[in-house]
Amino acid sequence: MNQKRENQELRTVRGMRDLFGEDAELYRYIIEQITKIVLKNGYTPIETPILEFTSVFMRSLGEYTDVVSKEMFSFLDRSENSVSLRPEGTASIVRALITNKLTQTLPQKWFYHGPMFRYDRPQKGRYRQFYQFGVEHIGTDAPLSDVESIAVVAEVLKKLKISNVTLSLNSVGDKETRQKYKEKLVEYFSRYENDLSLDSQRRLQANPLRILDSKDEKDQQIALEAPSILDHLTPSSHAFFDRVQEGLALLNIAYELDRMLVRGLDYYDHTTFEFKTCLDSQNSIAIVGGGRYNGLVEEMGGPSIPAVGWAFGIDRLMIACNYSDVPLAKKIAVLFINQEEENIALKLTHRLRDELQMAVLFPTDGSFIKRLKYSDKIGATCVVILGADEIQSNQAKLKFLYDIDSFQAGQEISIPMEQVIAFFHQNLHV
Ligand code: HAM
Repeated sequence: MNQKRENQELRTVRGMRDLFGEDAELYRYIIEQITKIVLKNGYTPIETPILEFTSVFMRSLGEYTDVVSKEMFSFLDRSENSVSLRPEGTASIVRALITNKLTQTLPQKWFYHGPMFRYDRPQKGRYRQFYQFGVEHIGTDAPLSDVESIAVVAEVLKKLKISNVTLSLNSVGDKETRQKYKEKLVEYFSRYENDLSLDSQRRLQANPLRILDSKDEKDQQIALEAPSILDHLTPSSHAFFDRVQEGLALLNIAYELDRMLVRGLDYYDHTTFEFKTCLDSQNSIAIVGGGRYNGLVEEMGGPSIPAVGWAFGIDRLMIACNYSDVPLAKKIAVLFINQEEENIALKLTHRLRDELQMAVLFPTDGSFIKRLKYSDKIGATCVVILGADEIQSNQAKLKFLYDIDSFQAGQEISIPMEQVIAFFHQNLHV
């Protein structure tokens, strides 16, 4: 193997990274907290494959979106089928709903998390393999479902102590709204056709809404003066959006209307929203995005079924979160002093693992001092020490490595062996 190839194989692919140490711990903590909250809100788990036929994403997300036209990881498999790594979760979930005939058992409230793939230019908070946690509430057309969905996001942000966020809210109305609004947009943008980026010129007739979402600075300047979709909502779309806003006000969820928020995917109707946070003084990024998609199930070949959902970008949540806010998981370690006590220590370890809801470690390699140092390094709150004296008197020595309740780091106590489990239940609250 030549040197260049060897080096290449030891790097990660651009825009993809390993997660370990504090990052991996924070990732796990975030997933655990969101899972608890969505379960409480009646969502149940669903898993779909990471790889789907490319057609699953083409029609659903829209061929003029950046995600489909530029960012898909697509390739031919060995049978010459075009397959793609999923760039998001919603299209796969709707595909699963139809494939498994789950349209008979509505409504469905699902949650999922895992890696997504977009071939975008990597930068802070933007990766080619990134992680989402999403929910989809399928089979509901009530505006209060949108409110409830947004309220779950607010609950997650509160739990994760992320406060510097703004909720941007918009409505892209129903089909009729968008048809009429598109005509207005074409009329407006046609006046600037030559100044628009080549991408936006292409989108002008086919899908002018996408120009509002352009990343090109000049397009963005021109779009600032474009007509607002909120001035073109049909009466029923207007009423729907009013009810969503009333619901948010009832729950004291603050928001800002953002008429430019059409979102980067084509499947939305009515409500669209994003929670944004500042990365630095110049840049803000969306940590979660979502909205209603009443036409998607039918578009993908199923019956007409309304739905609403959102997805968090976990990588971005990790930037917004403070690792110091993650409560350390309590751990203890069992240490024997001499080889003679090893068997008793092994048995005690397994009894503790059976009885306690916490990590019980049993370091076996190296000297007693080395194992004690290791226990300290991995953050064990307390070590249980078994030596010849302890075995003879049927006692266990507990040494605290961190302050906990009325015990101080460094303090040692001896307790009868049969009281060890009860002691941890009482004093470590496990
Ligand atoms: P999205 O806005 O495309 O929506 O993605 C949701 C979130 O994923 C974004 O707000 C962002 O935090 C994160 N994200 C997107 N791309 C990247 C990237 N390259 N690197 C890091 N994070 C990223 C959806 O995907 C929809 N499926 C959401 C939805 C569910 N709508 C209805 N139901």
